[in-house]
Parts: sequence; structure tokens; C-alpha cells
Amino acid sequence: MEEPFNPFPIYGYFGPAYFCNREHEKDNLITALRNGRNVTLYAPRRIGKTGLIHHVFHHLGKKWNCVYLDVQEAFSFKDFTNALLAAVLNAVSKNNSIVKKFQDWIFTLRPVMSANPHSGSLQLEIDFASEAQQRTTVKDALRLLDSFGPGVIALDEFQQISAWDTDSVSIEGWLRSEVQHLKNLRFIFSGSQFHLLSEMFNSAKRPFYASTQSAAIGKISASDYTTFIQQHFKNSRLKIGTEEINQILTWADGNTYNIQLLCNRVFSKTKKETSRAIIDESILEIYAENKLSYLALSTSMSKYQWRVLAAIAQEGKVYQTTSKDFITRHDLGSSASVLRALEFLTSRELVYQYLDEAGKSYYEIYDIILMRWLQNK
Ligand SMILES: Nc1ncnc2c1ncn2[C@@H]1O[C@H](COP(=O)(O)OP(=O)(O)OP(=O)(O)O)[C@@H](O)[C@H]1O
Ligand SMILES: [Mg+2]
Repeated sequence: MEEPFNPFPIYGYFGPAYFCNREHEKDNLITALRNGRNVTLYAPRRIGKTGLIHHVFHHLGKKWNCVYLDVQEAFSFKDFTNALLAAVLNAVSKNNSIVKKFQDWIFTLRPVMSANPHSGSLQLEIDFASEAQQRTTVKDALRLLDSFGPGVIALDEFQQISAWDTDSVSIEGWLRSEVQHLKNLRFIFSGSQFHLLSEMFNSAKRPFYASTQSAAIGKISASDYTTFIQQHFKNSRLKIGTEEINQILTWADGNTYNIQLLCNRVFSKTKKETSRAIIDESILEIYAENKLSYLALSTSMSKYQWRVLAAIAQEGKVYQTTSKDFITRHDLGSSASVLRALEFLTSRELVYQYLDEAGKSYYEIYDIILMRWLQNK
């Protein structure tokens, strides 16, 4: 596995040495897959779903054909079909004994093939005559892959299928029945849009109802991340104190991406030992880089909506958005207007509703960097 330039990468998966914890989550997923159970993986954005999927692939071992597909990049069922075939081809190309069989089959479909200039992975495009032909092709591909032995297909950001023009519930129904016919292939359906994904898998009216095991991942524990960060600094003969690590974890609000982002900066600036000043400087750099997009965001909504967003940011967590206290403290007028603004902010995924450990729901700004920026304005 290739080494990252900095021990805190902010894109991609570079192997267990650069991956913090997730032992329990990894074992849980692997046990499910090995025992023939498909999984739905939920988590808010940038907590580490995609990373965990690659971590699981890494630990499943060579016997498994592991296929990863980001459904968010497929804007239609046709895109999805092409991307799935390419993803399977890329996965089986690591296995000499089966790649030929898959290639022979795929060439009968006359694909136009190319290599992605960034990743070097194969892309392909088939000119399907109809949706029925696409369905048959996906079915054949899945059954062929199934015949090669144990495999897993991760459909990341799976909720995206509901944005296609095609009747997505009919696609769900069809896919569900295909999935049921496979003996060796397991599926991970993952996504961050909890309400859409949960509706697909937990509503009795939907085809995938009760067909998967649910797994949710949350923040990595502060003590595990502290050990991880300290170890990576030590490996490079650098020092970082627990107080400085606390400053990082608190600023990042435990969000994996934000922790990695800040650690990446701080690490690159540290000569011998990290200081509070280095962390502050890194944070200011991050704000400066995001400032333009946040200003653009502020002009994309009404002044009132922006004020509600800023009020939530000031509070950090808000349990009761319509409480008198919250409304008067921020001079927000009527509770009905707050509710309307909140609906807008939630639909834009700027504000997210979380559950605390006691099961009580609260609102928080989704993008923690935006939240910190608003708090510091
Ligand atoms: N356990 C971990 N240890 C270290 N870095 C991690 C870990 N999990 C994820 N990361 C890193 O954090 C960043 C965000 O993770 P990832 O992309 O997996 O999140 P995600 O939940 O899939 O996000 P999105 O909702 O944007 O798809 C990535 O740079 C990834 O490399
Ligand atoms: Mg992801």
C-alpha cells in the first residue's frame, strides 16, 4: 500500500497504520459479511464511512472480491450501470484467475474503455439500447461475480438513486430481488442522508425493508485519537502535548475529517514540538480558505435564514429551537419563522438533527468549520 506524504491524509485510504481505531465497527461489519448478512451503514458526513469500507476491504483478505462504487457520481441508472461494471472490472483485475472471464463477457457488450487520468482506474461506457438491457447487464454482472466466490459490493451514498429520473422504487424492488438471488455476494449500502436511507431500509412499504443489518458509526473516542496522533508525531521524532491534542479535538468537534485536516496542517508546520500558536495559525488558514465560499453561502439565502444559522452556531447545540430563551437571546421573532428557517437549513444540509446519548434530539451546524467560523466572526 502506498505511503501518504503526511501521516494525516485527508483523502483516500492508506492502510491500517494511518487509520485510527474503528476496531469494533470493522469487526462488526466483517462478521456480518462473513455470515451472509448485508449491511446498511449510516453516519453523518465526513465521519469516516468510506474510510471504514476500505478498511474492511483491507481486512477481508485476498479471497474476497471487493467492489467499491460511489453512487453519488452516478446521475442516472445508465451511469450507475457503467460505473458498476467498471468497478467490478477494477476489482477483479487484481485476481488473475477470474479477470479474463469477466473481460471476455464485458467485451461482448462493446464498451468504450478509458483510464481515469487521476487514479489510473478503468472507466467504461456502453451504449445501452434500453433500461431493460441495463437491468439484464447488471444482473449478468452480479451473477458472474457471484460465481467467482466471496465478494462484497459497497454502494456508497446509495440514497442517491432516489434522485434519478427513473422510478427509483421500481429500481429498488428489482435490485432487492437480484440481491436475494446471490449466494456469495454481500452488499454494504452506505450513506449520510439518514432520513432517505432509513426510509428505504426501515419503511415497511419499501422493497429493502428489514433486509439488512443496520450499523451506525459515530465519533472516534478522544482517548483513541489522542494516542493515534501522539504516536504519529513520535514516529517522525516530533512532539505534541495532550493539551494541544485536546485543542485540536475540541475545535474539530470530534469530526474525523476536521481532525485529520487540522492535524495535517499542524504536523506540516511543526519543527520539534507543536504549540498552541501553531494550531491557532493552522485554524486561521483553514478559515481564510473557506471564507469566500461561506460568504457566497450567506448570499444564497435570506438574511433571516442566515441569522438563524448564526444563532445555532453561537449556541453550538440547540435542543429547543422554538424555546423563548433561544428566540429572545438571538432576537429571532416568532417561533413559526424559526421553524420555517430551520426547515430550509435542514433541507440544504446546513443544519443536522442529532440524537444525544440519552436519545434527546438537538440541532447542530453540519459543517463544523462553518460553525467555528461563525462563532469567531
Ligand atoms: N478512522 C480513521 N482514521 C484516520 N482517518 C480517517 C478515519 N476515518 C476516516 N478518515 C479520514 O477522514 C476523512 C473523511 O473520511 P471519509 O471520507 O471516510 O468520511 P465519509 O463519512 O465517507 O464522508 P462523506 O460523507 O464526505 O462521504 C478522509 O480523509 C479519511 O481518510
Ligand atoms: Mg464517503
